Amino acid sequence: LPDPDVAALTDSDVDVLLPRPGKESDKYRRGVLGVAAGSDLYTGAAVLAVGGALRAGAGMVRYAGPAAPVAQVRAHWPEAVITQLERPSIDDVGRVQAWVLGPGLGTDDWAHELAARVLESHVPVLIDADALTLVARERSLLFRSAPVLITPHAGELARLIRVDRDDIEAARLEYTRRAAAELGVTVLLKGSTTVIAEDSRPARVNGTGTSWLATGGTGDVLSGVAGSLLAQGLSCYDAAACAAYLHGLAGRMAADGAPLAAADVATAIPAAIRAVSGDN
Ligand code: APR
Ligand code: MG
Repeated sequence: LPDPDVAALTDSDVDVLLPRPGKESDKYRRGVLGVAAGSDLYTGAAVLAVGGALRAGAGMVRYAGPAAPVAQVRAHWPEAVITQLERPSIDDVGRVQAWVLGPGLGTDDWAHELAARVLESHVPVLIDADALTLVARERSLLFRSAPVLITPHAGELARLIRVDRDDIEAARLEYTRRAAAELGVTVLLKGSTTVIAEDSRPARVNGTGTSWLATGGTGDVLSGVAGSLLAQGLSCYDAAACAAYLHGLAGRMAADGAPLAAADVATAIPAAIRAVSGDN
């Protein structure tokens, strides 16, 4: 029987929710996303998150990180506005309407300090990957004035709510809801199907993806897409749902029955948006 407290999104749900530029739009009003990701060890995650964000409609993407990922992001995305960080601070980054925090960030003191500064800001923050490890160590980082969207896979959620990964895999919907209630955040649990939960809202499940998405870096692209939608003014609940739907569909279109690389998913996001668009 269908569970009334679980909803599956359709093309037209996403079509209605997706922001589109109006005649008078300018890049600032379309939404500016900040991306705090990447480290000297992991540069690719930053490139993929920025790529996802640029394809999902933000007016501008600002990237902030250390020298090595800065060089890579600059080489891949001349569209991004880049701040090379000499210290873990966002004071010189400029105004943003939302942040993506965590892919490839590392978990050292520098990463912790930068995460703390981003989470002190007064805009929505999407927390993924290494930043989830930092938050698992220090949950009080989640106490903030603006909304938080977390995008763990089962292993990351297990560490965050201190349960066994196998237990989560066996009851994904239940644990996603429990995490949302316990942490007071919106939760997007990744996997073969994606589950989204927020306190007092029906859970949402997404099955648009394909197992070809099980390849390194696709999660980083998802972070960029969802962050881009947050910057454009969608709530965490709607940004998570639209991002999961479009990312899955883009993966399916990019793969078309054969392997894909994570960057291909970012490239296919506009085609996925076209595919769900009715008269817009
Ligand atoms: N079917 C459909 N979709 C899938 C499947 C599947 N079988 N497997 C994975 N996916 C999708 C997920 O829903 C998610 O959108 O692929 C994406 C994978 O995201 P992550 O698990 O974050 O993987 P990845 O991008 O490789 O992360 C790289 O970041 O989170 C850390 O520990 C992680 O070190 C790893 C790094
Ligand atoms: Mg990941």
